[in-house]
Amino acid sequence: MKIAVIGLGFVGLSLTSVLASKGNNVIGIDVDVEKCKKIRSGIAPFFEPDLEKMLRIGLKKKLTITDDFSLVKDCDMIFVAAGTPQKSNGAIELSMIKKAVTSIGRVLAKSKKSPIVLIKSTVIPGTMQNVILPILERRSGKKAGREFGLISNPEFLQESSAIRDTKFPHVIVLGGYQTKFMKKAKSFFSKLHPNVSITITNHQTAEMIKYANNSFLATKISFINQLSNICQNIPGANIDDIAKTIGLDPRIGALFLNAGPGYGGSCLPKDMKALINFADRIGTNPTLLNAVEKTNQNQMENIISLIEKKLGKIASKRITILGTAFKPNTDDVRDSIAIELIKKLLKKKAKITIYDPKAMRNTMKIFEGKIVYAKSITDALNKSQCAIMMIHWKQFEALNNNSIKHMKRKFIIDCRRILSKKELDAEYYAIGIGKKE
Ligand code: UDX
Repeated sequence: MKIAVIGLGFVGLSLTSVLASKGNNVIGIDVDVEKCKKIRSGIAPFFEPDLEKMLRIGLKKKLTITDDFSLVKDCDMIFVAAGTPQKSNGAIELSMIKKAVTSIGRVLAKSKKSPIVLIKSTVIPGTMQNVILPILERRSGKKAGREFGLISNPEFLQESSAIRDTKFPHVIVLGGYQTKFMKKAKSFFSKLHPNVSITITNHQTAEMIKYANNSFLATKISFINQLSNICQNIPGANIDDIAKTIGLDPRIGALFLNAGPGYGGSCLPKDMKALINFADRIGTNPTLLNAVEKTNQNQMENIISLIEKKLGKIASKRITILGTAFKPNTDDVRDSIAIELIKKLLKKKAKITIYDPKAMRNTMKIFEGKIVYAKSITDALNKSQCAIMMIHWKQFEALNNNSIKHMKRKFIIDCRRILSKKELDAEYYAIGIGKKE
């Protein structure tokens, strides 16, 4: 069996590498020629733990990386993992996925194979029926369900654990008609992931499952963030003890209760906005989802208010941001709260210095010469009047009185409570911990 994966981002490249490492005959396809060259030489175009290791194992087996779409003609399964970025009104941009399925359709027109096309990209309910299926049928001149299979197969992997999540997913979702192709897909996945639950449903439900999943996670985060704000006004209250304890209730669950400066990244904010936009469009007022989003935006505003309360006017104050990636163990800064915060602080004319163990280069692409890029945590804190710890990089745990001794004003805002147990000679504020005045 030959498998094609179209779009070599986090989802596509992780899938390509994992399938290839298991000895499958895999073709990874991307329109970006330079990216393909890099991947072919065993280098991942972004930092993701274990990805390069898996990729290199795959490259020694039966893995081809190319920008040539015509190679899908011999494939039995074609995964589409093209990006669906956000438009300014919150809706998703379908141009990349349309391009990909148009190319697949053209190849199918000339192919003798009856492959299964599986859409992994996150798309609003109805996209498969109203956009993807018509393009594929028109371009190929063939009928879905008879001459080729079409299945919605949303992906739930998290960046920073993309390989583990691809190898050991918590569920497989297959959306589409009950055809021979669905049977084949089910058998493929049950061999690949024995013991993993498979949900078989229709296209629109599969599409909605993905949004339900991410909007629920966002809701959990905004919930704990709102509680953390309440805790901050109860002297001595500790949000982590609360989260840990309510997380033991199996109806609640322990994960995604880590209070912080708000959720960021390339998925949660985008998916929330797309779902809100979709709900509005179909006439359902998404009151809860809007509140989740608003609570998320407020988290950053609260940080700015605290700085202003302590430092007065922000203009020309030296502020250090520790952690610019959207979460630890990644170099991804897309929709990172830290990046948004820096933009706001720059507007208020702050002098910003940053440090991140992995995301310096990506941060530099955004701010170029407008901010200072420190070589170490201590370097970043030199002469600073305020340090904000945005995410929990392991390296930040080592911060102590020695590392802050050259701060001009020892004022620290710890969004992840990394230093909450240390005796710091500083004005220390932690999100979710009530300050004892
Ligand atoms: C998310 C979903 O988790 C994943 O299932 C989907 O496939 C893609 O989107 P990802 O974007 O990698 O994954 O990030 P995630 O780990 O979910 O974190 C999103 C944001 O929420 C980050 O900014 C993170 O710092 C924040 N977060 C997460 C919290 O603030 N607290 C938490 O408890 C969890």
